[in-house]
Amino acid sequence: MLVAAVLIREGPDAKPLPGQPLKQLGKARGMEVGTAVRSQDTRGNRAYRQLIVQQFSSVTPENEMKWEAIAPKRGEFDFDAADELVEDAREAGQKVRGHTLVWHFQVPGWVKELGPKNLRQAMRGHIRTVMKHHRDDVGVWDVVNEPISDRGRLRRSVFQRRLGPGYIEDAFRTARTADPDAKLYLNEIGAESIGPKSNRLYEIVRGLKAKGVPIDGVGFQAHFNLTGVPRDFVANMQRFKALGLDIAITEADVGVKLPPSAADLEDQAQVYATIVRSCLAVRCRSLTFWGYTDGRSWISETQPGTGAATLLDASLVPKPAFGAVQRALSGG
Ligand code: XIL
Repeated sequence: MLVAAVLIREGPDAKPLPGQPLKQLGKARGMEVGTAVRSQDTRGNRAYRQLIVQQFSSVTPENEMKWEAIAPKRGEFDFDAADELVEDAREAGQKVRGHTLVWHFQVPGWVKELGPKNLRQAMRGHIRTVMKHHRDDVGVWDVVNEPISDRGRLRRSVFQRRLGPGYIEDAFRTARTADPDAKLYLNEIGAESIGPKSNRLYEIVRGLKAKGVPIDGVGFQAHFNLTGVPRDFVANMQRFKALGLDIAITEADVGVKLPPSAADLEDQAQVYATIVRSCLAVRCRSLTFWGYTDGRSWISETQPGTGAATLLDASLVPKPAFGAVQRALSGG
């Protein structure tokens, strides 16, 4: 086992990064600094892994805790990939954000075929099994992910269609019972500015709080590009905070058109600095980047012609964004 662990961490050491590690700068501001991680990337790549340990106080498994990954077949659970990442995090003294329990995407086919009664049962069972399995290591969960459509309606996910809008409340109540100590988040994409989507999210969350549904926080994914951070991002987060909720930025990245010019990378650095300052302005609990190297980022993998979205280039060399994040974390 030990031999295997050593073998999968082959490769050269990481070149040291300048300045103080992000996690240290974050700690001084009362904030966890995290990155998404993928089990297939930590294998055979010592440098990639070393920088995760060095720079971040929190990790989010990028795909390994999604329903499709854990239960591709009905009644069978496979926690191997998730456990591997959790074990790495434990060794590194890092927190883990659990991502994600109820989401319309990366849901196994068998779940989509269930009728209302069985789906409700499966959703509750999934939440319970997964949260209990990771109870000792995962302190924060994205219980419901992306429930709102871009037009500000409830997204017509399989859960919404079969169970009705009450599935959100049901998921949170089930989650609280499964692990009373975990912080329970609703995580949303593209709800950074004030508008139809975030307004709807706000109504829903306010409704949950008013009913005493156990929700602890709201996560803003913060997938941006060079258009920048909306001016009202802080004001938007602030109103959720005023409901008595924790705030986290959960998946920050800044995609640019490939290949980026030097000026693009400077602009990107500014966008990153604004993300950090926004998080600090609302005293967010954590700021997680959706990957930290351009060699491993979903943007270049899923949006052809776009990429270079992270802090380090594909050879793990800092881009202007890295220094900008350090300075912003230091209050600059
Ligand atoms: C993405 C992963 O990064 C990809 O590897 C995967 O193919 C699809 O999902 N919002 C989320 C994340 O909540 O889970 C998504 O992650 C990105 C958008």
